[in-house]
Amino acid sequence: MPLIRYLPWDSRFFGIKIGQITARRLTRLSLCQIRQKAKQHRFKCLYLVLEKQSKKIQTLLQSNRLILVDCKTTLAKRLLVTKKQSTEVGSIVCFQKRYLRDLIRISGNVISRESRFSVDSKFGRKSAKKLYEEWVKRSVLQSYARQALICERGKRAVGLLTLRQKKAGMYIDLFGVDRPYQGKGIGRALLQAAEVWAKSKKIKLLKVVTQKKNKTALRAYRAQGFRIVSEHPFYHWWL
Ligand SMILES: CC(C)(COP(=O)(O)OP(=O)(O)OC[C@H]1O[C@@H](n2cnc3c(N)ncnc32)[C@H](O)[C@@H]1OP(=O)(O)O)[C@@H](O)C(=O)NCCC(=O)NCCS
Repeated sequence: MPLIRYLPWDSRFFGIKIGQITARRLTRLSLCQIRQKAKQHRFKCLYLVLEKQSKKIQTLLQSNRLILVDCKTTLAKRLLVTKKQSTEVGSIVCFQKRYLRDLIRISGNVISRESRFSVDSKFGRKSAKKLYEEWVKRSVLQSYARQALICERGKRAVGLLTLRQKKAGMYIDLFGVDRPYQGKGIGRALLQAAEVWAKSKKIKLLKVVTQKKNKTALRAYRAQGFRIVSEHPFYHWWL
């Protein structure tokens, strides 16, 4: 039976006990065992990441009222670190405290909309918005992010990209552009600046996680040379 990993940050934020499971295969029996264990340990919600999914498993999960909220899609780009490194980052600048209000707005209004928390009505748009506002504050004020890159227009931040070091490598974490400024090349400029920064730190592989249904983000990453390396169905299970 797959292990349930307790998620302290999510649990504290939502005020309920939340855990996560990564499973290779699931059967009716293993699902029953997980439910029993979860109830015994008073979990209220489980995030379930599946390595693979067949039609049969999908039917089994849906008949047990698990909600398919996402298909977690990871992309990666190999960076060629050359001796003569470009340092050109165009109009992109690093985080300063005066941008904080704009970044909270972008995270709450733009980035959170694409998240699995917005899809699941039990969490809902309002909590998703708050979660992303907290996330950006943590990223730029508590060094959760290694780097925060900003695009400024008329003294306001209109685009944001943060980079975060995880066990599995360096990841693009928060990425979004204010709606009136989308489709004007700002996302592309932020991705290029992220690459320049990563190369300056001798990072050889840059990764990002998005949702399969987020076609705009996928196109933006692909246009910069990122390729899909994995796709995993993602469920929420309310107990
Ligand atoms: C994804 C996002 C950051 C892209 O920023 P942007 O400034 O709008 O993107 P750009 O104008 O630089 O365009 C970059 C590429 O994105 C794709 N793209 C941009 N807008 C698009 C649209 N409306 N439809 C389809 N593809 C689009 C294109 O491939 C484009 O490259 P091209 O112009 O060479 O074809 C922005 O759309 C956004 O904030 N989306 C909501 C938040 C989000 O989804 N964040 C990603 C979470 S992982």
